[in-house]
Amino acid sequence: MESFTAKRRLVAQAVRAGGPDVIEIHGEDVAALARGEALVQVEAAGLNHAETLIQSGAYPVRFPFPFGVGFEGAGTVVAVGADVSIAPGTRVCWTAVFGSCATLVTAPAHMLATLPDTTSVEAGASLAHAGVTAAGLVRHCPIADGSYAVVWGAAGSVGRVLVALLADRGISVVGIASGSRVEVVRRLGAQHVVDRTSGNVVDAVRDYTRGRGAAAVFDPVGTATYETNLQLLAPRGYLVNYGQLSGGLPAIDLGRLMDTGSIFVTKYGPRAGLVGADSVATLISETLAIATTRPVANDIAARFTLDRVVDAYRMLESSPQGKVLVLPQMKDG
Ligand SMILES: NC(=O)c1ccc[n+]([C@@H]2O[C@H](COP(=O)([O-])OP(=O)(O)OC[C@H]3O[C@@H](n4cnc5c(N)ncnc54)[C@H](OP(=O)(O)O)[C@@H]3O)[C@@H](O)[C@H]2O)c1
Repeated sequence: MESFTAKRRLVAQAVRAGGPDVIEIHGEDVAALARGEALVQVEAAGLNHAETLIQSGAYPVRFPFPFGVGFEGAGTVVAVGADVSIAPGTRVCWTAVFGSCATLVTAPAHMLATLPDTTSVEAGASLAHAGVTAAGLVRHCPIADGSYAVVWGAAGSVGRVLVALLADRGISVVGIASGSRVEVVRRLGAQHVVDRTSGNVVDAVRDYTRGRGAAAVFDPVGTATYETNLQLLAPRGYLVNYGQLSGGLPAIDLGRLMDTGSIFVTKYGPRAGLVGADSVATLISETLAIATTRPVANDIAARFTLDRVVDAYRMLESSPQGKVLVLPQMKDG
């Protein structure tokens, strides 16, 4: 075990409910490591849309203010507590560790996945949360081999991993993305792709499924795609919503669900109980393995220094095509 010498860290904190402007940089001592903990120098923190809701106070899970923002990242282990097998110097990535927008973060060592030598910290900080989410989504409802699944946002962070995992399970994926982004979706294993900016999604899916509709639709959008989704599903198909990129969630009319083939509608989230803390690192590692051969890591939309964390969260709110990263070891200029 590496002896722990007292260290200070800078951490971005949301000090009250609100938008990006409520985030401030705070300096504090790092507490001595407890059994099973590792101290990691954060080289890249990945921002996630849920943080906008969490910081505004609109997320079902509330955090007392102030709390450290950012829960996904990658970096290098610098010290470990008792009973930790990861050696200092190991490059790792993680999700579900709040306070990751910081120079240093203390994490339960069992939540850390080791980065393959060829994988960058930026890729790790882009893949960890998406990998865990996509792994939960593919376990969420039964989809028979050979059936069709529609994936909205297929070129986004979660969508890319989801396309790869579904395709690997023998599901015929129809991936929806914007413009030239459909090409990466095809390379991830989608059987068909639809450019939502120029194609008719309903006609395309009906055509590919020979009029029957898809067994499942995976939707990170919410209200804007709901009516379309009802037209994409086969009888008794599953509409799996897992996000609200268009700002809200639809009110569900049970009568309409019967009219549209008695479909099942579900909202996936961490409380589904499909991903336990003990399996997080394994699921991330499975995604990192896929990333060595397929482009599952999202493009990087922008990189910010820690002192520009407010700008980073503003950018997240502007619906960028790609991952927004904070690089706490990077200096301005
Ligand atoms: N429930 C959970 O456990 C969980 C976990 C992780 C993430 N999420 C949620 O999942 C959602 C996606 O996260 P992400 O990190 O993958 O986001 P992302 O990387 O930004 O990708 C989302 C993609 O969706 C597409 N899109 C955006 N608005 C759209 C609209 N109105 N209609 C159709 N497509 C639209 C865009 O791609 P194109 O322009 O190429 O179509 C966008 O790049 C977020 O809401 C996030 O909070 C939920």
